[in-house]
Amino acid sequence: MPALKGAGLASRRVAADVLARVEQGAWANAALDAALARTTLSGPDRALATALVFGTLRRQRACDWLVDEALRREVELPVRIALRLGAYQLVFLGQPAYAAVSTAVATAPRRAAGLVNAVLRRIAAADERSWPSPAVELSYPDWIVERLFEDLGEPDALGALGAMNEPGAAAIGAGGTHQDLASQWVAAAVPHPAGGIVVDLCAAPGGKAVAVGAGPSLVAAVERRPGRARRLARRVRRDDGALAVLVADGRFPPLRPGFADCVLVDAPCSGLGALRRRPDARWRLDPGAPARLSQLQRELLEGSVGLLRPGGTLVYSVCTLTRVETEGVDAWIADRFPSLRPLPRLGPPWQQRGRGEILLPQTAGTDGMFLLRVALPG
Ligand SMILES: C[S@@+](CC[C@H](N)C(=O)[O-])C[C@H]1O[C@@H](n2cnc3c(N)ncnc32)[C@H](O)[C@@H]1O
Repeated sequence: MPALKGAGLASRRVAADVLARVEQGAWANAALDAALARTTLSGPDRALATALVFGTLRRQRACDWLVDEALRREVELPVRIALRLGAYQLVFLGQPAYAAVSTAVATAPRRAAGLVNAVLRRIAAADERSWPSPAVELSYPDWIVERLFEDLGEPDALGALGAMNEPGAAAIGAGGTHQDLASQWVAAAVPHPAGGIVVDLCAAPGGKAVAVGAGPSLVAAVERRPGRARRLARRVRRDDGALAVLVADGRFPPLRPGFADCVLVDAPCSGLGALRRRPDARWRLDPGAPARLSQLQRELLEGSVGLLRPGGTLVYSVCTLTRVETEGVDAWIADRFPSLRPLPRLGPPWQQRGRGEILLPQTAGTDGMFLLRVALPG
């Protein structure tokens, strides 16, 4: 059995171990980094372990449904994980049955080898599947599918949900770190006049602050969480330009009013546009998150407008797609601060949403993002 030889099996063992840790509450990205740091796997085997962890987590609900159709009883967690991994390889990676089944059997507890073998062979033998719902087939919680159907319309929602099941392309942003293209476009849309002052009210991990700081403005990077602020401060090097990190609550910025040329509110959000990069996030979010976060977004915006000088620009962005965090916030700003006037939109691949614009994850292979730019009269 060639698939059992060499490190292919080691990659699958690492994947099974990480999936077990995620079940115990660990974040996938952190658990994977920690597990890979402990191994001597080669580059391609690390990539395989990563693809298996992220892919199986994204498709977890679909994999569990496939398993449950073939095995109508509960099994202990290590067996469930071996079955999920096997089902993912069979159905979503299209691996040959002998390879997927034999490696799943080898990663399962020995006493469950017969059961894992039988269940996966049953899954492999099925020639057609009638998924009970798009949420099961696309492997999302019901509420996320329902919310995006309602907020984006069914075709765009299906496109977005499908796109976020694919691995993201790694893009290199300012400072040589990984940053999604959509985030780079948002940073590029932040006005930063020579000698001007830009306040970033939600700055860590700092992709946008560092990108803007490379230009001719001074950036005040505000972050509420000290650990995150410290990591951002460490990331700032002399050649990143003028950037000062402040630990503070952006709702009550300790800065002089009326002096900023631009305030960026890249707010905490439900992240429903960035699920590609956070494969386990969909299972952790609760349905109340978008409404709860939109309240925080408004409070941050409330604190931001007073910082602007006449003619200054407010930039609001979130990596999510729900109406309450995008158009809903735009409508609230229009009502609360009628003197703020919209700046010209960026245009394609962005699409108009209210006075701002949205970038769907399927349009340009980026994260999904919402951007609004409004300015005070000069
Ligand atoms: C979406 S992230 C920002 C990403 C960042 N702008 C970038 O480009 O890398 C939101 C950040 O806001 C921080 N945050 C949350 N509540 C805050 C508050 N009240 N004041 C300031 N920062 C806050 C979070 O800790 C998180 O680091």
